[in-house]
Amino acid sequence: AALGDQSEAPPPPPDQQAMASQNKPISNIVIIIAMQTEALPIVNRFQLTEEPNSPFPQGVPWVRYRGTYKNLNVSLIWPGKDPVLGVDSVGTISSALVTYAAIQTLQPDLIINAGTAGGFKAKGASIGDVFIVSDCAFHDRRIPIPVFDLYGVGLRKAVEAPNLVRELNLKVAKLSTGDSLDMSQQDESSIIANDATLKDMEGAAIAYVAELLKVPAVFVKAVTDIIDGDKPTAEEFLQNLAAVTAKLDLAVEKVINFINGKCIAEL
Ligand code: ADE
Repeated sequence: AALGDQSEAPPPPPDQQAMASQNKPISNIVIIIAMQTEALPIVNRFQLTEEPNSPFPQGVPWVRYRGTYKNLNVSLIWPGKDPVLGVDSVGTISSALVTYAAIQTLQPDLIINAGTAGGFKAKGASIGDVFIVSDCAFHDRRIPIPVFDLYGVGLRKAVEAPNLVRELNLKVAKLSTGDSLDMSQQDESSIIANDATLKDMEGAAIAYVAELLKVPAVFVKAVTDIIDGDKPTAEEFLQNLAAVTAKLDLAVEKVINFINGKCIAEL
């Protein structure tokens, strides 16, 4: 450039940008949690407060809690209650929307999706176990046409976090996501094909948006019900929700303490 030229240097190529963001300390995190029962203990633990000036469009039920914890700006996004029915807006549509909106408005360095999940005892899951997810995929998007079948499965990797897993002594497993709490036979076949230990209603949708917008994501899932057991899922889920949420809350605290002061490459 000529002397006195005020133009800025061109941005580095995308792979260098990605490397740079891997190696700077994480400062902005967004925690996405679908259910109020799961979210409030974490809101209280980190003394987060509801943001009065919502960054989201007027009228949506999405709630942002925010605060600072150690070196971190922490936001917790809860998709809120369905405006008509008054129940938590669980499932893939709400979670994808809030993930998109949170990334656009808050530009997090890392997303943490925390929540409860069903677990397969045949794959080593027990009630109250807390897992870090390695891979997410869908089990209810069947498109039996070559390549569209893979699109439907939508396999995405969570950020690799070997140090976090080792230090906190957490189990690691694959997660399968669908929009139903119960499980049809077709769902079951797909979950087995996905090699999943865990079943939830948000993970793969959040992983899809996070990858699209190139934000690393960590998934922390606590088991409320045994899918291959003999108890009805809804009953077992509701019975264990409060106790398992307490374990999830403690695990999220440990994960955030571990993340504090580190960069993505150190996880
Ligand atoms: N969340 C908790 N248990 C679940 C299950 N069995 N299926 C889907 N989501 C869940």
